[in-house]
Amino acid sequence: MTRPLIVGNWKMNTLRHTAMALAQDIGSRYADTSADERGFDLMVCPPFPYLPTVGEAIAGSGVALGAQDCHAAGGGAHTGDVAAEMLADIGCTAVILGHSERRTDHGEIDLAVSEKARAAHRAGLIAIICIGETEAERDAGQAADICARQIAGSVPKGAVAEDTVIAYEPVWAIGTGRTPTAADVADMHGHIRGELSRFLDDADRVRLLYGGSVKPGNAIQLLSVPNVDGALVGGASLSAEDFWAIAQSS
Ligand code: 13P
Repeated sequence: MTRPLIVGNWKMNTLRHTAMALAQDIGSRYADTSADERGFDLMVCPPFPYLPTVGEAIAGSGVALGAQDCHAAGGGAHTGDVAAEMLADIGCTAVILGHSERRTDHGEIDLAVSEKARAAHRAGLIAIICIGETEAERDAGQAADICARQIAGSVPKGAVAEDTVIAYEPVWAIGTGRTPTAADVADMHGHIRGELSRFLDDADRVRLLYGGSVKPGNAIQLLSVPNVDGALVGGASLSAEDFWAIAQSS
């Protein structure tokens, strides 16, 4: 069975002292839990400036460190951007790519996401590639096609289960308190698995995360859906207690 992965996407939240406190709290909960009981992997993705602070706070706890974006190039004249190699250099093991907020705020298209994922792989990072339909697309019956197109465009050739995670985040469920039904998530994750198998030899081992309004109250239900191998958590990951409760539901 695939080991579940629970990722906290802190987005553009926290300041240095709150980031440190949150990371220490999560790190000590994970470190204090016996290996038998912690049958899940845990990762936090703070804003860029706090990566080193959070990295220190979770050092030795077993919690992994991830970033929220990277540039496709390894370095050079790209003001304001961060290379995947820099993230690896400061202790990140993963990077979230193609989040719907980046697709919306920064006009990121599938090709850019795929190039960034290639950069992540080049630097030895796991690419957590986000896909998901808008509400209008779902209402128009296009959700499955949109996700298939995003997978085909965003997942680079040569991706394998060890270096790639897919996060299905329906845009209309992010930060809204609304979630798809368990049946809808099962349908979509089965569909995503099938689409991945057209490109990857080991698609059955790629971890598929669900994201969008995951809370302690719905985590058991969402995480028990077939083909859901973990969660990408936004708002609830800013509370150590809630994030921990979600992780323990996996
Ligand atoms: P919320 O959990 O706040 O809905 O955010 C989900 C998300 O976008 C995680 O990447």
